[in-house]
Amino acid sequence: MSTPTILPDEIRSLTDDQAHALIENVKKKWGSKIVILGHHYQKDEVIVHSDFTGDSLKLAKIAKEQKAAKHIIFCGVHFMAESADMLTDGACEVCLPDMAAGCDMADMADAKDLQIAWDDATHEGLEGIVPVTYINSTAALKAIVGRNGGIICTSSNAKAVVKWALERGKHILFLPDQHLGRNICKAMGFDHNKDMLLWDPKKYLGGHSADVLKKTKIWLWAGHCPVHALFTVHQIKRIRETNPETKILVHPECSMEIVDVSDLNGSTDFIIKTIQAAPAGSSWAIGTEKNLVDRLAKDNPDKKIFSLNPYSCACGTMNRISLKHLAWVMDCIDKGQSMPNRIQVPPSIAKDAKLALDRMMSVVV
Ligand code: 13P
Ligand code: SF4
Repeated sequence: MSTPTILPDEIRSLTDDQAHALIENVKKKWGSKIVILGHHYQKDEVIVHSDFTGDSLKLAKIAKEQKAAKHIIFCGVHFMAESADMLTDGACEVCLPDMAAGCDMADMADAKDLQIAWDDATHEGLEGIVPVTYINSTAALKAIVGRNGGIICTSSNAKAVVKWALERGKHILFLPDQHLGRNICKAMGFDHNKDMLLWDPKKYLGGHSADVLKKTKIWLWAGHCPVHALFTVHQIKRIRETNPETKILVHPECSMEIVDVSDLNGSTDFIIKTIQAAPAGSSWAIGTEKNLVDRLAKDNPDKKIFSLNPYSCACGTMNRISLKHLAWVMDCIDKGQSMPNRIQVPPSIAKDAKLALDRMMSVVV
């Protein structure tokens, strides 16, 4: 995790009302030159100021469309800000209000480990491998994927992207989220025992013989999201017993065992749209991040909405970004200081990572 951003005393000493007012004043003054993007897992105090909210795919597309913006303030996590930087031109500066807002899952796929895996696999004569990385990964890892004919996916387009990859190769190496990979491939008709294996990045060839790899179509990197790992089948069983009318709706970063016994699964945008379209009086247990579940409950008082995990799970890194971090960035821009916490992917990495991003953008969902 990168070092947390320490806010100056004059920002820390603001009251919440003062911080809200500062942000709104700078927004009025700068208009469309500053764009604030907020991922659905952000706190309400940040979401209220966001010009756009969305899941990873939607926010990447919105960042790409911002031609008038001089500054994009990405209230999300590091990999999202990196993608926004690569999808915008150099005239638009992208910033992450707290540098410690990383993603634990992205950290589970180190670019060096992928390069070693790739070299070992090719050395053993394995061919026709198409790397597919979830957007929750570093730009350095995306660059290796792009350089080797691979592609990026999000939870919204993973099925279409996996289909794209299967049309181009014999095997898929899916990184870093084993659960998203397994859930999507299973939904496409693959058998999780016969057609998939788990690639352990700490072992030679992921812990398999070249022969086994040759016979197996989908290789799943052993990464996962610690936030979604806190949902269990036991929680679902309890709800089915005590509230049989409740529908279970989860994010596909949950394990296959959970997705299998839930009623519906999909991206954060899908979760929101499903709840908005649900009839008044319906009851929903949701398996995803706490800020989003709490907001859904508040915005849908005619429905019963609660977290699948009674102890709830917040994403600690997403939560790093606060009202005052946003106020600080706005203040710096307004005072003509250089953009703080600017995210700039080095051109040597961006060149190849962009290949994989552009391939994703060309896939029609
Ligand atoms: P979405 O693209 O569904 O918003 O997911 C991003 C994420 O990090 C979920 O943990
Ligand atoms: Fe990463 Fe999980 Fe947080 Fe999403 S919820 S940003 S996958 S750690």
